Amino acid sequence: MEQSPQDATLAAYERGALQYAARTSTAPAPEVDTLLARVARGARVLELGSGPGRDAAALEAAGLTVDRTDGAAAFVDALRAAGHQARVLDVRAEDFGGPYDAVFANAVLLHVPREDLAAVLATARRACRPGGVLVASVKKGEGEAWTRAKLDDPRHFTYWDETGLTSALRAAGWTPEQVTESTLPGAVERWITVIARNEASTLPTGAAPPRSGDLAETGRNGADRPAFAGSPDLEA
Ligand SMILES: C[S@@+](CC[C@H](N)C(=O)[O-])C[C@H]1O[C@@H](n2cnc3c(N)ncnc32)[C@H](O)[C@@H]1O
Repeated sequence: MEQSPQDATLAAYERGALQYAARTSTAPAPEVDTLLARVARGARVLELGSGPGRDAAALEAAGLTVDRTDGAAAFVDALRAAGHQARVLDVRAEDFGGPYDAVFANAVLLHVPREDLAAVLATARRACRPGGVLVASVKKGEGEAWTRAKLDDPRHFTYWDETGLTSALRAAGWTPEQVTESTLPGAVERWITVIARNEASTLPTGAAPPRSGDLAETGRNGADRPAFAGSPDLEA
């Protein structure tokens, strides 16, 4: 059976985790400061798609506790080898654990097919305590695309605009606080940063967003973005 784009992308990360880490900036994403401005010291954070773990390290250095997760076992193994607790968690899972004070997903949800994003966001909200916060980033644009940038194997990306992203957040029960373009000057890719609150304690009965099919995501810095405009070999 043919692999779904999300499975093929995850397989690309499994095979290319070391290559991805070597080609990605070690400077924390700007979203790290975005989150730090919204949670108290000691807050417990679920990070989806930790990858090489640069942002988790910065969050912990600032006094937070981070549950490092990734859908690719290769990243989880590398994080554990570096002395961190980490677990394999596919964003397509039905339960992320928790409750956490915050969910952090930098350049991760861009691998989720458009029709599945609201369901993934709903699972993230269920993992977040009432009053908790979501900080995430996705690529801005239209449609979807495959790219071989950074890795030898292709990865699939879904692009978003502010309106679509705001709708997906609301469908998942999040209250969007900020859904705005965050592209740094000179960056090749455009980005949107999301800040949302888990204000309601539950979704209205029967309002869980549908998940399409079976189980089925590059800027400014870090992940698939250059840390600074002009940084070599760091674009998506
Ligand atoms: C562009 S990288 C970003 C990594 C990290 N957040 C950073 O900013 O450096 C995307 C990450 O999402 C992970 N990922 C891709 N698909 C996933 C899935 N279905 N579930 C969980 N993680 C996934 C990849 O393994 C990879 O670590």
